[in-house]
Order: sequence, then C-alpha cells, then structure tokens
Amino acid sequence: MRRLRKEPLGLVDPARRSLLKAGLALGGVAVAGGEALAQGSTAGAGNPANQAPNVPDWSRYLGDGVEARPYGMPSKFEAHVVKRDVEWLTASRQSSVNFTPIHELDGIITPNGLCFERHHGGTAVVDPADYQLMINGLVEKPLILTLDDIKRLPRVNRAYFCECAANSGMEWRGAQLNGCQFTHGMVHCVMYTGVPLKVILEQAGVKTNARWLMVEGGDSSGMNRSLPLAKALDDCLIAFKMNGEALREENGYPARLVVPGWEANLWIKWIRRIEVGDEPWHAREETSKYTDLLENGTARRFTFVMDAKSVITSPSPQMPWKHKGQNVISGIAWSGRGTIKRVDVSMDGGRNWMTARIDGPVLPKAVTRFYVDTPWSGSPLLLQSRAMDDTGYVQPSKKELREVRGVNSIYHNNGIQTWHVLASGEVENVEVS
Ligand code: MTE
Ligand code: CO
Repeated sequence: MRRLRKEPLGLVDPARRSLLKAGLALGGVAVAGGEALAQGSTAGAGNPANQAPNVPDWSRYLGDGVEARPYGMPSKFEAHVVKRDVEWLTASRQSSVNFTPIHELDGIITPNGLCFERHHGGTAVVDPADYQLMINGLVEKPLILTLDDIKRLPRVNRAYFCECAANSGMEWRGAQLNGCQFTHGMVHCVMYTGVPLKVILEQAGVKTNARWLMVEGGDSSGMNRSLPLAKALDDCLIAFKMNGEALREENGYPARLVVPGWEANLWIKWIRRIEVGDEPWHAREETSKYTDLLENGTARRFTFVMDAKSVITSPSPQMPWKHKGQNVISGIAWSGRGTIKRVDVSMDGGRNWMTARIDGPVLPKAVTRFYVDTPWSGSPLLLQSRAMDDTGYVQPSKKELREVRGVNSIYHNNGIQTWHVLASGEVENVEVS
C-alpha cells in the first residue's frame, strides 16, 4: 500500500492541521439535556407538490407488485451509500481494498452489500458443488470435506467484527483522508453462521505435537497465513452464512475462516486447505506477513489481536451537521480482547470527557454502538471518542501510540480520531497535540 500521496479525495489541508496544533479556542460547547430546541422544518428540501398539505405522488398510484423485486435492493434515494475505493492507494484493483460506508450505517451489523472487501487476487467465483476443504499435516485422518459435509456438522451463530490490520494505516503520520469511510472503513460486523473449527479438527484428529495451522485460500493469490492451534480450538469458525444468507462472493463464498478479534488477514476467504503443523508456517520465511516496523528498526511480528478502537461516524467529514440545536453524535467501538465496557466522548479535543450512551447488543469481539444526544450551539468542536474494554484497556491517543510504535508502521493504528466540526457544520479530519 502506498502512503501519503498528496492527491485529491479529501486530503486534509496541512495548513489547517498546524493551525489546530497551535491551539484552538473553543467556546459554547453545550451538552445533552440543555436548552429547548426548535425541531423539524416546514420548508422541506424536496418537491413542494409532494409535501403537506398536498397528496404526494406515491399515495396516488399503485406501486410495484411482489414480482418486481425478487431480491430486494436499497431505495434509489440511497444510491450514494456504497463501498468506495481510493484509486491511487494500490497499484492494481484486484490486489486492493474498498471501504465500508460506516458514516451511513447504524446499529451494530453491517449489511452484506456494504462490507468492505480486501483481496490480493480479486474475487474468486467458486461453484459450491466443486468446493472442498482439505485438512492435512499432523492429523490422524486427513480429510476432504465438501460444503454439504460442513453444513451437516453442528453450527453456531456469532456476531463478530472483522478489521483489516491496515485500517487507519494511512493516518500514522498525520491526518490524511477526509471521511471515516476511508480512515476507519476497513471494518465490518456480521452475524456468522458456521461450524467451530474445533469440531472439524476433532474429526481429523490433531496429533499431540501440533501447535500451528497453515490456512490457505482458494483465490488466485492462494493467500495463506499461520494460525496458532490454540486460537483455532478456542473460537474460530468455518462460516458459510453472513447475516443469515450465503456469504457474498467478495467475502469468501462459499466458506471462509472467522478468527474473532484477530486481524482480518487471518480470516481466509474461499478457504480450501488447513495444514496442521508444529511451528508457524511463516517462521520459515525471512519476513513474516504483516509486521509493524518500529523506530529502532526492529519489527513486531504475529501481532494478531486488534486492540480496542472507536470512531465517531456522525458527524464526520461525509456526514456534516445541517442543523444547530438538538443533534446526535453516533459512533462505533470494538475490541479484539473482549467486550466494550464504556465509550467516552470529548467535544474539546480531549480536555473534558463525558460517558456516551451505549445502545443495542454489547457482544464480545463485535461492534458496539454509542451515542451522545446533544444540542449544538454552532461553535466549533474537536470531537473525539475513546473506547474501553473489559480487560481495562483504554484506547490511546495518537501521540501515546506514536511514542511506542513510531510512525513507520502501516498496521494496528487504533489511536483516538479527532473530527473538527466547523461553525458551518462541515467536518474535517485533524489532529490535536
Ligand atoms: N483471503 C483470501 N483467500 N485472499 C485474500 O486476499 N485478504 C485478507 C482476508 N482474507 C484475503 C483473504 C485480508 S488482508 C482482509 S482485510 C480480509 O480478508 C478482508 O475480508 P473481507 O473482504 O470479507 O472484508
Ligand atoms: Co487486511
């Protein structure tokens, strides 16, 4: 992934960043429960002929019949809610990424059509009739399972976030991309249906000296990764459904590996083989996959767990505030180590914090939704969110993170994001020091 190329697509103006570093006077930050607010607007932005007191078009004519939409699609008015990619980010479109429009979503589940895609050799199109999963290596009984074989094993339903280790990777050296879709959109949260990997490994009979698995994808990149056996036996799944329906092709149809809480490059899509071994597969290579280069020239390896992280999805650069008065700050938090316990929100760049309201299911290793219901006076804000998980871990500021990790890494940037809400309601990606 190339970094820090100064080209369009909402790159942050460096002059504005330094202005903020120099210190910004903030005033009039109002919190929830304050003044009474004018709600609603009589002058709608649309066509007055369709607005009160007139009878709108959609009330006058019969609508489409039930045969018109055998697979339902979003309203045409939601056509802007799509995954987006950044053309200059990667050299090819097959080994590339697009981003979840997290600024447009709510609750904790990502709709299937909006889950970001990251692949190294394009989307494999696998005929489920030909699909096979092979288990070999240090096992008593090597296996080749068909999709039907997998579906006849006991299955479970689990919601998990899946975050690419490179999520926020462009932001290591400073605020870069203007939109949480691009800064934080390499994450999705899906309800998977699948068979615990433990069940499949038990069928094959793992030998006592086994410690690691090599998991391999069936796409043209033949992507493979080293996975500790202990994790595989703990909570990994071979999933064949997402949010109740078959996996999407771009997310690994007909079956993918789910590695809860761990970096997404281990979540092998179109999974075709698991080789059981006694050492990490990638220990045999000079460089392991996905390392974090530190300032002193050494690198962190096998940094699998995704630490607690959060981001305010609205307001955000693609979701400006249109109204003064009552507003909703909304965001998501997640931790690969467990459950989100608390999320704090600051409106003044981290000087003062308030506890956000968490709503919806709070599940381990899944996205958690938080809100702050607040009036807005129209004064500029420096909005931040800070996640805490049930291990006591607190999401670090970018400054704290850089003190430990430097800026050479691409991966595992879970630093606190700052959005500058301007008096106009527009929002910019900034940093405070
Ligand atoms: N599996 C295969 N077979 N090929 C790939 O290129 N990319 C990995 C992982 N699994 C990849 C793969 C990476 S780096 C990520 S971030 C996740 O898939 C992305 O999963 P998604 O496309 O479902 O969002
Ligand atoms: Co990835």
